[in-house]
Amino acid sequence: MSLKDKISKKTVKIGIVGLGYVGLPLAVEMAQAGFNVTGIDVDGKKVSMISKGKNYIPDLDENTIKSLVKDGYLEATSDFNIVKNLDVIIICVPTPLNKMREPDTSYISSSINSISPHLKKGQLIILESTSYPGTTEEIILPVIEKCGFRVGEDIHLAFSPERVDPGNKGFSIKNTPKVVGGVTKKCTDIASLMYAQIADEVISVSSPKTAEMTKLLENIFRCVNIALVNEIMILCNRMGIDVWEVIKAASTKPFGFMPFYPGPGLGGHCIPIDPFYLSWKAKEYDFYTEFIELAGKVNQNMPYYVVTRISEALNDVQKSINGSKILILGVAYKKDIDDLRESPALEIIKILKERGAHISYHDPYISEFEVEGSIFNSQHVNEKMLEEKDCVVVITDHSNVDYNFIAKKASLVVDTRNALNDFDYGNIVKI
Ligand SMILES: NC(=O)c1ccc[n+]([C@@H]2O[C@H](COP(=O)([O-])OP(=O)(O)OC[C@H]3O[C@@H](n4cnc5c(N)ncnc54)[C@H](O)[C@@H]3O)[C@@H](O)[C@H]2O)c1
Repeated sequence: MSLKDKISKKTVKIGIVGLGYVGLPLAVEMAQAGFNVTGIDVDGKKVSMISKGKNYIPDLDENTIKSLVKDGYLEATSDFNIVKNLDVIIICVPTPLNKMREPDTSYISSSINSISPHLKKGQLIILESTSYPGTTEEIILPVIEKCGFRVGEDIHLAFSPERVDPGNKGFSIKNTPKVVGGVTKKCTDIASLMYAQIADEVISVSSPKTAEMTKLLENIFRCVNIALVNEIMILCNRMGIDVWEVIKAASTKPFGFMPFYPGPGLGGHCIPIDPFYLSWKAKEYDFYTEFIELAGKVNQNMPYYVVTRISEALNDVQKSINGSKILILGVAYKKDIDDLRESPALEIIKILKERGAHISYHDPYISEFEVEGSIFNSQHVNEKMLEEKDCVVVITDHSNVDYNFIAKKASLVVDTRNALNDFDYGNIVKI
């Protein structure tokens, strides 16, 4: 039976390499669609949790995972030997930056090197990890060819970017169009057919490079627009204009404007990182991506700007950062998720600590974390503890926080998200 027939009949066996924020939801979606899915991860803890039907990603439901595992649709392993039994292998491993802020594609290389000894004719390999244009054909394709397979004939290869937005209740894998670009037309067709089983709409593009660039354009668009609105906010503040009111008013224009909101800086595994994959690659073409560099500069400066605003707010009540008791409200990089990666809260806490502040925090999604050797535990918020603080700084606007209570009981609040807009008792400073 051809791979296409097997996909249509749902008899293909699928492997998802990397069971993180991207890989596990994809594995669950595929298993729910009736496919037999094996998650492969080098992290034994994650494998053991999935094998026991346990969940560790906030957007997913543990009971769903439990029943998928029990009914034999979903399993997990750290053993790449399983690859020889699979028809489709989708790679969802991390793509961070190294210390020099250059792309670190070592996870992609290491996963394809673990997969390659077990490859067989007729398989489809898809990369979902965000990376620079050329990654699929420059890193994955040569490894497959070195094993003696012809891509497009023996083995099919494509790139399809993950567009998941953690915490977003409106858009899921199913109703977010899936972009697919294969090395050959046949690769694109087979990979598109695979995704058509779980996504309402599949958009085929002419090459993996096009699909890789599509994902980067989406993220760079966000990064540049956030930087723009952050810069406008700093100017508005100096001019005595409320930027939030400006954005609300500008958003009434029914065409040609899309609102972006200022904040304490970028966070997460995508927006602060992915644009630099492109600026790095562009240099190979003697090209300098100035918008990306400028946006990076503005956004990376935001934690320092927030600290300046905290310092000014304390100064207005004859206090200094040095010696002040400061409660950080929300440390996740955005609302309603438990992801601390690249969160601006970490940088802000680090600077405040260096300047002598006594830091505590509350985050309903993150019970503990470490900054430069210091362990912090989430504190319960009550009237007494709020009264003891010199300043409360809202970094993340989680939905399940009683902002009215905070506004009423805290002596001073610095709000980086406009979360307390409805509850101003004269003690709130917007950044
Ligand atoms: N998190 C997001 O919101 C998001 C959205 C869109 C795209 N992406 C992209 O998707 C990719 C994955 O991101 P994520 O957030 O899921 O990362 P993650 O860190 O949550 O998960 C990655 C998983 O891969 C595993 N892993 C690492 N090396 C491996 C290997 N050699 N073999 C098998 N497993 C391995 C890790 O143990 C981890 O469980 C990245 O390229 C990211 O840029 C992420």
